[in-house]
Order: sequence, then structure tokens, then C-alpha cells
Amino acid sequence: MRVIALNGSARGKKGVTWKLMDAFLKGLTEGGATVKDTQLHELNISYCTACLTCMHRTPGQCVIKDDMNQIYPYLKESDIFLMGTPVYTDTMTALMKTVMDRCICCLDPFLRIDEEDRTRHPYSWRMPAGFFLISTSGFPEKESFDPLIATYKAQTANFGSKPLGEICVPGSIALQVEPQNFEPHLDMIGQAGKMLALFGKVEPTLLEEINTPILSRQKYLQIAARYEDWCRRRRGETSSQAASGRGNPGEN
Ligand SMILES: Cc1cc2nc3c(=O)[nH]c(=O)nc-3n(C[C@H](O)[C@H](O)[C@H](O)COP(=O)(O)O)c2cc1C
Repeated sequence: MRVIALNGSARGKKGVTWKLMDAFLKGLTEGGATVKDTQLHELNISYCTACLTCMHRTPGQCVIKDDMNQIYPYLKESDIFLMGTPVYTDTMTALMKTVMDRCICCLDPFLRIDEEDRTRHPYSWRMPAGFFLISTSGFPEKESFDPLIATYKAQTANFGSKPLGEICVPGSIALQVEPQNFEPHLDMIGQAGKMLALFGKVEPTLLEEINTPILSRQKYLQIAARYEDWCRRRRGETSSQAASGRGNPGEN
């Protein structure tokens, strides 16, 4: 099994998204998969200009010559695309969305009805047959991922691929302030990666366990209050200014 893993976090390997991806990729490798990972923030990738040359003149080929050319060959030869992206303004990051837009060069301009009765484009080359999502969010509720998951699933369908699962761990502030809370989770994420490599799918009960928020909202807000204190000190605010601020995340 060949996997292309793209990290769309603007913080690359310093971010929480990568921490989750890294655990998953280690599991995939342990299970025998060949993994190519890429930090999108290190690349120079332009927006799609909608010239549609890829559809009308040079089927399958984008005219823009940039670092997408480092990604296309892996997309063409991989079985699984691992989309790693934190939630930014309720969906994937612009880095990841730009890559998705640039992948329309795999599509032909014609319209066909797919096996699920949706109108879609056929393709001149295949994106990976399976997509898998890994994400984190700043807010602690699992609903923070709803718009992202909907978009990820829609994009999977656009490319004629199948969604193989999602790992969405909310509450990235606590993941950074108290990483020890999440160690068992990283183990489970590693198991999920290994399972995917060995069996081509991950047990839904394991995904459910991984995706259940570890901390209550109240506990999360208490941990986040320490981060808020740090922010206020950096901003040179006094505690009386803090007390009159807009809400106190440490409050019960
Ligand atoms: C531009 C931007 C927009 C964000 N929007 C959201 C959001 O809509 N919902 C949310 O829960 N977190 C949001 N966050 C928080 C990130 O999801 C969180 O900080 C995450 O840890 C970032 O990923 P990273 O650690 O890999 O950098 C946003 C962060 C940034 C920088």
C-alpha cells in the first residue's frame, strides 16, 4: 500500500496536526505501507487560475509550473491520500484547499452520473482510491469538524474515491499545554494506522474511541485558562484588565 500524506498546517511539524499524523504514519509504516509525507507550508503552490487548459488542451496536465509537480506523481501512484489539516475558519486550511483545487487537472470536462447517482466529471488520471482525514481544532467540541468533514467527503466523491475514515481530535490547546493527557490517544492513532495498512480499513469502534473528546469542556477551559494567562502577559495586560475581559475561560 502506498500512501501520500500532506500536512496542510501552516505550522508544519511544529503543530498538533503533525503530531497526530506522525503517530498514524508510524502505524502505517509498521503495517508495511510505503509513506511519502510532505509539509505543504514548505512548498510554493499557486492558486488554480481556472484557465482550464488541463481540461481543454492538455488533458491531465496543469500549465502552472510550481511545486505541485512534486506532488502530482505521488498522487498518481498512491493508493491512499492522507489529508492532514487543522480546522481553519471552520474548514481545511487554504494550503490544503489550494492543493485540492489544483487537482482538478485530473478531471475531464465531461459530465457523467456516478455509481451513487451524482453528476461528476470522469478523470484523465486517478487520484488515490481512498482518502483519510486527520485533523485538530482549537475549540473543544467535536462539532467543530462538521463542515470540514462534509467538505472532505464531498471532495473524495468529486475524485471518484472513497472516504476511509476520519481522525479528528478537538482541543489542540490542551494537547500542547498537557500533552501527557493524549499519550494513550497517540497509541490508539498508531494502531489505527497499522490497521489501515494491514487490512485496508480501520475498525469503526477504534475511530469512535479516538474521536471522543478526552476532556470535558469545563476541564478544557481550565487548561486553556493557563494559555490565556500567558497570552495576557505577552500583551502586557494586568490581572484587573484580565478580570474585566470578555469572559473567563477558567470560570465554572
Ligand atoms: C487562521 C486560523 C483559523 C482557525 N479557525 C478555527 C476554527 O474555525 N475552529 C477551531 O476550532 N479552531 C480554529 N483554529 C485553531 C486551530 O485549529 C488550532 O490552533 C490547531 O491546533 C492548528 O493546527 P496546528 O497545531 O497543526 O498548527 C484556527 C487557527 C487559525 C490559525
